[in-house]
Amino acid sequence: MNKRAVVIRESSLSDSQAVLNLYKYVAETPGGLARLAFEVTPVYVENFLSAASLRGLGLVAEIDGEIAGEIHGYSPEIFCFSHVLTDLTIAVAPAQQGTGVGRLLFAEFLRRVAEDRPHISRVELIARESNTRALAFYESLGFVREGELRGRILNADGSLENDIPMALTPGSGLSSMLFS
Ligand SMILES: CC(C)(COP(=O)(O)OP(=O)(O)OC[C@H]1O[C@@H](n2cnc3c(N)ncnc32)[C@H](O)[C@@H]1OP(=O)(O)O)[C@@H](O)C(=O)NCCC(=O)NCCS
Repeated sequence: MNKRAVVIRESSLSDSQAVLNLYKYVAETPGGLARLAFEVTPVYVENFLSAASLRGLGLVAEIDGEIAGEIHGYSPEIFCFSHVLTDLTIAVAPAQQGTGVGRLLFAEFLRRVAEDRPHISRVELIARESNTRALAFYESLGFVREGELRGRILNADGSLENDIPMALTPGSGLSSMLFS
């Protein structure tokens, strides 16, 4: 665990440039984020920061005043999905990965969802099958695999791999505490 203080706070549009830099940096290592670095654009970042603040939740983790991690999720704009937080994405700066920032961010995200957003009863994400550490991380938080989306990911070398949909719902693991 990193000994430096980690400050977690809600994100806002004024974080766009720092979050853009973070995502570009994280996307340079293949196998994690779905987007390639050149696909991390200002519009992409502004859209998710804005959606998170309007219809969901976005948090950043700061270390020494620098954004070292970000997590967001939001509800789609139609009524039938208004209880769902989707497009959940988390990224931690490569230099900070493996030091506990991601777990802190995600736990705080779920705590705030449970406490402040009682209308949310499903939190969902998708992770590629080869990202086994991320899949195990999500399972440790109570997410449950809901099958496999076969050949959904096209890798840079031309190979296809499965994408794994996961969700935290009232019936799954930790969620019984979160959604009680
Ligand atoms: C996945 C990620 C958000 C985890 O954040 P982190 O700060 O590195 O994780 P933590 O140190 O809090 O550890 C939490 C778990 O994440 C896993 N993890 C650590 N480093 C990881 C890495 N580079 N890639 C994937 N998972 C990682 C560990 O297995 C750890 O489990 P443990 O606590 O049982 O040991 C972060 O590593 C990351 O941004 N990876 C690249 C982008 C990515 O894969 N995003 C998720 C796409 S679905």
